[in-house]
Amino acid sequence: MELSVNVDHIATLREARKEEFPDPLYAAVEAELGGADGITVHLRGDRRHIKERDLKLLRGVVKTVLNLEMASTHEMAEIAVDVKPDRITLVPESPGEVTTQGGLNLLNLKEDLKVFISNLKEKGMKVGIFLDPDIEQIKEAARIGAQYIEINTNEYSRLKVYKDELIRIARVAKAARREGLVVHAGHGINYRNAIPLLTVTEITSYSIGFAIIARAVFVGLRQATQEMVAIIRGRR
Ligand code: PXP
Repeated sequence: MELSVNVDHIATLREARKEEFPDPLYAAVEAELGGADGITVHLRGDRRHIKERDLKLLRGVVKTVLNLEMASTHEMAEIAVDVKPDRITLVPESPGEVTTQGGLNLLNLKEDLKVFISNLKEKGMKVGIFLDPDIEQIKEAARIGAQYIEINTNEYSRLKVYKDELIRIARVAKAARREGLVVHAGHGINYRNAIPLLTVTEITSYSIGFAIIARAVFVGLRQATQEMVAIIRGRR
């Protein structure tokens, strides 16, 4: 199991005071020193936290795998082609949302994502899609050429009794593997709920932001990352 640490919230803190610090670049280095297998940032249309400057400098600094979450807009495609992160995770974006609300609904899309995805792949980036755990969405993701999916674990992370949702995730993860997709998971994963999710062995990577950054306030980001790495590698 791999871990990609989302450092958006470091930029959120910086933007709260319109300061030059804390810098998501330093955060990326600390997370990597703590054992992260990748760094994730979400460049939003409104640039509320991560800026293009961050993304460009991260491209030079990140030694592991740089994953860019973005909406499937023309503007973002141009930036991606220019910066060339290792991975692109397509996410839905609506103005004013506090965080990403649900997976991308591929069954209800106006634009043709197949061409969009193939253009990015041609430039050497791996392309995945953030999806709710729904078999029809998975099949569509495979059809339009996605290489991986990130299963939205938001619902799972909110439920006190999560067993049924875990079963749903496991079923979808298996279906995704049958479609030839690599399976990741993310949203709302924390130090506790990360553990039962490990039983879904098809999932090979977690994308985690808030829980790790929140823990880092008390123990530092390197240690917060180390603690999560220990959990997901089963050393705790
Ligand atoms: N994956 C996606 C697609 C997201 O939009 C987010 C939130 O930025 C995450 C993972 C990380 O979620 P969290 O901050 O709750 O760990």
